[in-house]
Amino acid sequence: MKFFIDTANLKQIKEAQELGVLDGVTTNPSLMAKEGIKGTENIKNHYKQICEIVDGDVSAEVISTEYKRMIAEGEELAELHNQIVVKIPMIKDGIKAIKYFAKKGIRTNCTLVFSPGQALLAAKAGAYYVSPFVGRLDDISYNGMDLVAQIVNIYNTYGYNTQVLAASIRHTMHIIDALDSGADVATCPLSAILGLLNHPLTDIGLEKFIADYNSVNK
Ligand code: E4P
Repeated sequence: MKFFIDTANLKQIKEAQELGVLDGVTTNPSLMAKEGIKGTENIKNHYKQICEIVDGDVSAEVISTEYKRMIAEGEELAELHNQIVVKIPMIKDGIKAIKYFAKKGIRTNCTLVFSPGQALLAAKAGAYYVSPFVGRLDDISYNGMDLVAQIVNIYNTYGYNTQVLAASIRHTMHIIDALDSGADVATCPLSAILGLLNHPLTDIGLEKFIADYNSVNK
């Protein structure tokens, strides 16, 4: 399973990249706003900076919701860097735009997916990634990870190539559950990735190894 970091914060992206296990980055307009990135040129520059830090795919989201404007915006984003994947919302014009980009060989990430029917449309249109939002479903008492597993099963059964990107991951256990669900990718906050490092027996064991070494090496 690939690991993406879900942030527009350059410091966190660098920290994850330096860990050596990062496969890409996802952003969205809310994450860009959180970092205070505003204005078309600043936003584009920020995407370029992210692409220079990481080796893998960087999802950059369109703001337009009308077909022609989505195409124009998506083409500009795709031209920024060959690592850019154009993130398109799951709406009617978005499906048409995904189809257009697939024909042109521009990779897309269909975002804001909350049902298997939406995931089917994204795959049929030729999305490169589909992003079911796990945490936001959990927030309203639906099991978000069940949706991930259902989409994986549908795509495997019918042979769709679209990769399932478990998004809206909120904590470390979501990452483990994404593995169990067969997700191709999990996009996670840095805290959730770093949480995978933790185990009390590791800490106890290491403390003992160092104490035993020191007891005979004074
Ligand atoms: C990533 O592609 C999504 O935009 C992101 O994971 C949404 O996460 P949130 O539900 O925590 O805002």
